Amino acid sequence: MFDLIVIGAGPGGYEAAAHAGHLGKSVAIVEQADLGGTCLNVGCIPAKTFLRSSRLFRECREAAAFGILVESPGFDLPALVARKDHVVGTLTRGVAALLRSTGVEVLAGTGRLVDRNTVEVGGERHEATNILIATGARPAVPPIPGIDGERVLDSTAVFAITAVPERIAIIGGGYIGLEFASFFHEIGTEVTVYEALPRIATGCDGDVAEELLKILRHAGIGIHLSCVVQGIEGDSVRYRDAEGAEHLAAATYIVNATGRTPVLSGLGLEEVGIDATARGIPVDDQGRTNVPNVWACGDVTGQHMLAHVAARAGIVAVNTMCGRRDRMRFDAIPAVIYSHPEVAMVGKTEEELQAGAIPYRKAIVPMAVAGRFLVEHENETGLVKVLVGEPHGEILGVHAIGDLSSEFIVAAATMIEAEMTLAQAGEIIFPHPTVAEALHAAILKAQ
Ligand code: NAI
Repeated sequence: MFDLIVIGAGPGGYEAAAHAGHLGKSVAIVEQADLGGTCLNVGCIPAKTFLRSSRLFRECREAAAFGILVESPGFDLPALVARKDHVVGTLTRGVAALLRSTGVEVLAGTGRLVDRNTVEVGGERHEATNILIATGARPAVPPIPGIDGERVLDSTAVFAITAVPERIAIIGGGYIGLEFASFFHEIGTEVTVYEALPRIATGCDGDVAEELLKILRHAGIGIHLSCVVQGIEGDSVRYRDAEGAEHLAAATYIVNATGRTPVLSGLGLEEVGIDATARGIPVDDQGRTNVPNVWACGDVTGQHMLAHVAARAGIVAVNTMCGRRDRMRFDAIPAVIYSHPEVAMVGKTEEELQAGAIPYRKAIVPMAVAGRFLVEHENETGLVKVLVGEPHGEILGVHAIGDLSSEFIVAAATMIEAEMTLAQAGEIIFPHPTVAEALHAAILKAQ
């Protein structure tokens, strides 16, 4: 009898299992594929490794502006894939070591709940006081005729291509679509993004999304808004544009980036009476499902599908089952789109404040106010926007566009989490020269 069985070894599951092990609990974790889940194996880490190389390739072409002469750089996709595999291998071995060092037993296979205290793996039954479901999400398959065609790649299959494609059509202008748009554009592919909504990056602050759209289009990425993909016919995308006219556009590959859907099937949820909809397993802010002692965290809950949210939610669930006071707070969740340039955000968007009739004021400064931004980049723009509550001056949201903003957004998250006012945040000494000084400048401007 274990204290805890975790199903799924992605960031939600393995962090939770290791934390419970660290607290002295007897823990098992069930995984049917590689440790690390989507994030390490076919998500965040491979995508960032690909984007690191594509940016370096672009920088080689633009190196003359920095006083470096590079003659005709080339792009070696198999070498990039090998590097990605090496990075992923190092990290997954790190997860295995973490689980070993915290005494967590790994059960290889597919887990299925038999009852609220029993999980079956490969025909064997294991019992536990608590069960944490952390099975994640997989690429959604929208009801588009031809979406299962051989030219269509989802966000997992993209990492297996072996040659630089001539033309890529991307369905969806969200996180995944925009990151792959930047990657393929930088390696020399002609990229077109088809987005059904009248804007890209839904969920981001409107000003930032608008700026990103401008920058990506200016770089040469085709982006069609209010444009619904209606079918895939062989190597072509059939779409209806904003005016309602139908078109057919050919591409080497078509990338399906229309969202991700929670992994629920085969888990025995119905048999055990665990509530779930196609959007995920509902949980409270401590990770409880409707069935006592069965918990869930991460993408399978459908809440904020981000690795770092999954990891925190798993730890909250473990703390709660161990009698330690904890709960999820959703006011200060940072998120990053690793497009080039990257977008980093935390807290409320201006649209959310308007919708909630929350009184606010705002300040926007260009990234170029930070000397380091000019040192690091040539011909790039960006901005930092700070949203502040009225009349108390509490920081409600920070939204940035520009490279390296992913590295300082945690400072803004800390300010929001600590419920700092502008005056308090303004007293923080920022190191010079850093790109983060643009955040400081926005805070001072908003005072
Ligand atoms: P998404 O929901 O962010 O974007 C999908 C887009 O596809 C939407 O804007 C939607 O309007 C559009 N769309 C759907 N059907 C369409 C059609 N027929 N024609 C044209 N457009 C259509 O989903 P995405 O980008 O696939 O990401 C999935 C999840 O993965 C997100 O929840 C995100 O949080 C997470 N993720 C996070 C990353 C990060 O933190 N950097 C990176 C990648 C993914």
